[in-house]
Amino acid sequence: MNIENKKFYIKTWGCQMNEYDSLTISSTIKKHTSYIETKNFIEAEILILNTCSIREKAQEKLFHQLGRWKKLKKKNKNIIIAVGGCVANQEGSKILKRAKFVDIIFGTQTLHRLPEMIVEKIKNKKFIIDISFPKLEKFKKIVPPKFNSYSASISIMEGCNKYCSFCIVPYTRGKEISRPFYDIINNILYLAKHGIKEIQLLGQNVNSYKSTGNNNTKHTFSELLKKISSIPMIERIRFITSNPMDFTDDIIKIYAETPKLVSFLHLPIQSGSNRILKLMKRPYSVEEYKTIINKLKTVRPNIQISSDFIVGFPGETENDFSETMKIISEINFDMSFSFIYSPRPGTPAAKLKDNVNISEKKNRLQTLQKKIKEQISYWNKKIIHSQQKILVEKSLPNTKNQFLGTTENNRKVIFNSQNDVLGKIITVKIIKKKNNFFEGIQQIM
Ligand code: SAH
Ligand code: F3S
Repeated sequence: MNIENKKFYIKTWGCQMNEYDSLTISSTIKKHTSYIETKNFIEAEILILNTCSIREKAQEKLFHQLGRWKKLKKKNKNIIIAVGGCVANQEGSKILKRAKFVDIIFGTQTLHRLPEMIVEKIKNKKFIIDISFPKLEKFKKIVPPKFNSYSASISIMEGCNKYCSFCIVPYTRGKEISRPFYDIINNILYLAKHGIKEIQLLGQNVNSYKSTGNNNTKHTFSELLKKISSIPMIERIRFITSNPMDFTDDIIKIYAETPKLVSFLHLPIQSGSNRILKLMKRPYSVEEYKTIINKLKTVRPNIQISSDFIVGFPGETENDFSETMKIISEINFDMSFSFIYSPRPGTPAAKLKDNVNISEKKNRLQTLQKKIKEQISYWNKKIIHSQQKILVEKSLPNTKNQFLGTTENNRKVIFNSQNDVLGKIITVKIIKKKNNFFEGIQQIM
């Protein structure tokens, strides 16, 4: 069948891992078929939905979206609808009960097989489902996405074995698998050769990274960081997400040795109450979390920390919540995320008795978010008049010599320059904040 010039469209919900997966889906389809991508779903003959199920209403959101696409399919019966991501893994063929018109269901670990599934579907017209977990095959088969700017994300591990009692990820993304060490390094060398200056390592728990190479050699996350930092063209390294339980001293040592590692770390604590942390099956205490931060601050005094918080976990008392507020004050976090606890099907916490009513949960969330906002303002003020290193990512259209760059703690800075600064890490003095941006003056060093 001739599929020349036909188009596919991808809609993505969820985390950075999902964004990355969608880029991978796109590059893999482009490599193996002649379909081209469109950002306008009206033009597309293949509609792909990459879903997220980390919190509630994922299913409802899915069926609403599918309802809209059903109308398109009524007008054009050649349209293929494919559903992937975490809801696909969680619900599988149950999706068909409410949306018979779905053509393909693919999983988080089988997205590389999507081109074959599409060809098969066109040939045989039959519904296809593959939500299996074929271990390393995905890492071997995917076509790494291309990046337009100077910063690229790369997945180093997937899945999770931690089974925090509230979390669906171990069920939807499967067991932890680490991508082979030299695969990652080769991928980064390739990106560096094509102008990438900043690498963001992605994974559900990047610091649990463990790969076994030839001759049974083992590689840890800290070794991976060290190796990447030895690549001269790579000037900045970030990673997300880490779990405090595996945040070992060898990683902290890398902060001491490697200035390329940014002074910004997302390290979710979830709650400031040891009792709740136990119920969440998070195997660290608040005191241990603080020890990690103190050690980090010893080697990197200016490091800024962000976190995720879950409010209203089953049985969370007023006292537990005030412990969370206490740790927030003590650490003085930057740019944190917070959520009301959402029971996830099949997780142990979903069976716990939840005696905190929803309006109380909402109040707590509001109190917490107010505090988080104040802390963001604190850090926003703190950088005024300071010198910051920024990666210059683009020149601004319709301006004369204006550029945009990003600081290590993810602030966007606009500045003027007569020089060739694109793709370089330069120092700017921050002058003021203007809306969501900062204005800076380039410092000639
Ligand atoms: N691996 C990361 C978390 C990934 S999930 C870690 O160890 O911290 C991203 C965030 O979503 C979590 O940090 C948590 O704050 C939130 N989250 C996960 N499941 C949730 C649930 N059932 N209800 C509310 N928030 C949840
Ligand atoms: Fe979820 Fe806990 Fe893993 S939050 S992703 S089960 S570390």
